[in-house]
Amino acid sequence: MPIQHYPTLGAYLAANRCVSTEYDNEPLELLEGTPPPDLVGTLLRNGNGRFEHQGVVYEHLFDGDGMVARFVFDGQGGVRYRNRYVRTREFVAEEAAGRMLYRSFGTNLPGGLRANFGKMQFKNTANTSLVQHGGHLLALWEGGLPHALDPATLATLGRFDYGGVLRNKFSWLDRRITPEMPFSAHPKVHPTTGVLHNFGTVAGTTHRLVLYEVSPGGQARVAHALPMPAATFAHDFLLTQSGHQIFFLTPVAFDVLRAFSGLTSPAASIRVDRTQGTQVVVVAPDGTVHRLTTDFCFVFHFVNGYQDADGTLVADALLLDDYPDSLSIRAYLKGNLPNDAIQARFTRFRLDLAAGTVARQPLSDYEGELPEINPTRTGQPYRYAWSIGRPPSHPLPLLDHLVKLDVHTGEARTSYQPATLCSEPVIIPRPGATAEDDAYLAYLRFDAATHTTDLLVADAASLTTLARWRLPHNIPLGFHGLWIND
Ligand SMILES: [Fe+2]
Repeated sequence: MPIQHYPTLGAYLAANRCVSTEYDNEPLELLEGTPPPDLVGTLLRNGNGRFEHQGVVYEHLFDGDGMVARFVFDGQGGVRYRNRYVRTREFVAEEAAGRMLYRSFGTNLPGGLRANFGKMQFKNTANTSLVQHGGHLLALWEGGLPHALDPATLATLGRFDYGGVLRNKFSWLDRRITPEMPFSAHPKVHPTTGVLHNFGTVAGTTHRLVLYEVSPGGQARVAHALPMPAATFAHDFLLTQSGHQIFFLTPVAFDVLRAFSGLTSPAASIRVDRTQGTQVVVVAPDGTVHRLTTDFCFVFHFVNGYQDADGTLVADALLLDDYPDSLSIRAYLKGNLPNDAIQARFTRFRLDLAAGTVARQPLSDYEGELPEINPTRTGQPYRYAWSIGRPPSHPLPLLDHLVKLDVHTGEARTSYQPATLCSEPVIIPRPGATAEDDAYLAYLRFDAATHTTDLLVADAASLTTLARWRLPHNIPLGFHGLWIND
């Protein structure tokens, strides 16, 4: 398809317009299709609701205040929409002040070093994902505490530290550096025990990878605190049904001194040592810690992981050959995306704990991000992954396709509407389904020509659209979401 038939990349930036309206139970207009009657429940999505604040344009994709979008499906064709910014204390203070008060992950305050020096409190954007577990609905951000939300109104109930478990109890100096321990945006619930596992990378006199466990009843504890050689940037991890937890500590790390002093934003402080390998840390169910190494790489998101019949651990990831630094993110936010932009590829790692080896093989030549699986296959052998992505021959450097990948064969099925961008697809197993792809797939789609955002439900097996609704306003596509059955 000739490239001139596409809108310029800049047209896609309208997907990032700031959201200024909050709706309450707004009925959405059905534009096409027949909504499945057995699709009854709630889709929640979290993401950055704005890309600037009071005229200051954020320099990183991750800096916008979290805005949660909720879609309630009534099973009779109706969908009602509500959206709310998470009222973090930083959001509330900045709204009251009418100006930017806090540094964030990728953006320092205007005014250079003078304005930023010694400012160690960062904005908790609460913008990355959501989890419902142990009686709580939480908005998550990997740099700080979760925020509890009212599931009915999306009102912010407050900062949430699991009864003090997330308070830093290491040394006095550690507590000064990181008073509250971060809780990552990618917790995993064990498919059998119902225990939620999560981690935080805690900067301090010793940088630590802290592992948390939360019982189905909501009781949390710190299960492990493992020293790390650096303040590694780790976004996701894997939990297998066998109880193994897998982390990739890549040689991509924050320069804590530069970031905390205000010399740079945390994102700009990141140093990448391409001469170093990636440390693969496996915490076995008995607590034994294995440390393996593989060649340099970077991973934002894992797809799934499990223990194979021969005891090998399989870790499927969207693997980047390099780390997209803050300059390339800034260029992307201005619509400048080179054709050879670094993208992630589906890659399988096999970890042999007895031999201490790591093998890797490509699963596909498609590029992708924001991968999802059928949630009933978490930590177990599986066949399908869904994501946003890009076929190898696609002329645009955008992950503007929906992809269904068969990890057994490497074959992919795609859905593509020119001049649109899609959000992460959320997989909703059909009631009573046994086949892995007998599911619905719910996602948002931004149309760059009309600057509109639609909610779509598709058949997860074929990717065929089953129903499409129009949102009353254009919202950014966001990061991660979840489905809650009624
Ligand atoms: Fe993520």
